[in-house]
Amino acid sequence: MSLSPPSAQNLTHCVSLSASPSPTVATIDLSALAHNLTQVRSLLADTCQILAVVKADAYGHGAVVISRTLTQLGITRFGVSTVQEGIALREAGIRGSVLVLGAVFPNQIPDLFAHGLTPAVYDLDMALKLAQHARSQQEPYVVHIKVETGMGRLGLSPDEVVRLLQSPPFKGPLRAEGLMTHLADADGPYPAYTQAQIARFRSALSQIEAAGLSVPLVHTANSAGILLHPSSHFTLVRPGIMLYGYPPDAGGNQIPNLKPLLMLTTTVAQVRALAPGDHVSYNCSYTATRPTRIAVLPIGYADGYSRSLSNRGYVMIKGRLARIVGRVCMDMTMVEVTEIPDIKPGDEAVLIGQQGAAQISASDLAAWQGTIPYEVLCAIGTRVPRVYRELGPHVEHGPGSRS
Ligand SMILES: Cc1ncc(COP(=O)(O)O)c(C=O)c1O
Repeated sequence: MSLSPPSAQNLTHCVSLSASPSPTVATIDLSALAHNLTQVRSLLADTCQILAVVKADAYGHGAVVISRTLTQLGITRFGVSTVQEGIALREAGIRGSVLVLGAVFPNQIPDLFAHGLTPAVYDLDMALKLAQHARSQQEPYVVHIKVETGMGRLGLSPDEVVRLLQSPPFKGPLRAEGLMTHLADADGPYPAYTQAQIARFRSALSQIEAAGLSVPLVHTANSAGILLHPSSHFTLVRPGIMLYGYPPDAGGNQIPNLKPLLMLTTTVAQVRALAPGDHVSYNCSYTATRPTRIAVLPIGYADGYSRSLSNRGYVMIKGRLARIVGRVCMDMTMVEVTEIPDIKPGDEAVLIGQQGAAQISASDLAAWQGTIPYEVLCAIGTRVPRVYRELGPHVEHGPGSRS
C-alpha cells in the first residue's frame, strides 16, 4: 500500500465481456501485459523461447483474452494445469502449443488427443496409456517429460528418464519434444536448493546425451528462475506471475520493472451512520466507539475478497484509504469512511489498483491475508466481470522466433 502519485495511463478504450453493467469489475490492462512480456524477454538469450503460463484462468485475468493477446505479441506456447483448461483455449481458437503441466488421468486421454494438447509425462504407466491412443495417429504424438528434482510432486526421478526414452512408447507412438522440471525455491533467499535441483536436472540431460538421445526443448524456469537464476533458463522458460505484473517474491530482493494488469473496483451501495455501540456484520466483531460512517460495498468472499480481510484490510475511496470494519460477508464488505467527506452511493471503491495518490496492490492484500499475490489474483471469482483495456497502438511486438 502506498500513497505515491499514480503513473500516467495512456491506454485506449475498454472492451467489456459482461452482458450487463456490474458494480464490481476487474479491469485488465493488456498494454501492461505487453510491457511485462518485454521485461521477460529482456532477461533472456535470443535463442530462449517463452511458454506463457495461463493456468487458473491466467491467474484470474481470463486465459482466453490473455492467450489471444500473447499470440498477437508473438507467443506460440501456453501452459495450463488441466485438460479442461486446455480444451477451453482450443475452443476459443488458440492454435499454439498447449502444454498440460498438471495431472492427466486415463479417462482424459481421448480429449487430450482430440484437442491436440501436449501432456507432461510423469511416469511410465502414463506413457504406455498415451502410446495406446497414439498408435492410431499418423505422426508420433508430441509430449514433454517431467523430471522430479526436488519439488516433491509429479515427475520421474532423473535416473528414470533415459529408461523411459528407450521404452516402447518412445519407439514410434510418442515423441519427446521437451524435458522439464519445476523449481521449488527459486524465489527463496538462498540459491543452494535451486542449484542442487538444476544439477539433478543436468544429470538427466547428461544421461540422455550419453545414450545418444536428444530433446529439443529443455525448461525449468518459472518467474523466479527467469529473474534470479540465469542458469535455469535452458532453451525455454515458463513465466506466470511476472506476466501479470508481480515479482515472484513479494519481499523481493530484485524488483523488476513490472506493471500489474489487474485493477479491482466496486461501487458504494449505501452510506450509513453508526452511533457509538453499534455493531457491524456477523458476530458483531466491530463496534463503533464514536459517531462513525460506513460505506457498504457489494463485494464479498464469494467474489474472492477474502474473509481474512475482516477488520484488517483497506480499500480506497476518493483517493483515501478506508479500513474494512466487521466481517467480510459472502457478498458484502463494510468500510469506515468517517474521515472521508461527501461519500455517496455510486462512488467508486478501488480494492486493487490506484486511486488518486493512493495505491493498493495484490501484494498488499496478500500481506493482510497472510498469503501470496498469486492466491489473491486467482481467487477473484467468476461473478466479477473482466473488462479489458486493449493493447495501445504502439505496443512492441516480439520477434516471431522468440515465442
Ligand atoms: C510447472 C510450472 N511452471 C511455471 C509456473 C509459473 O510460475 P510463476 O507464476 O511463479 O512464474 C508454474 C506456476 O505455478 C508451474 O506450476
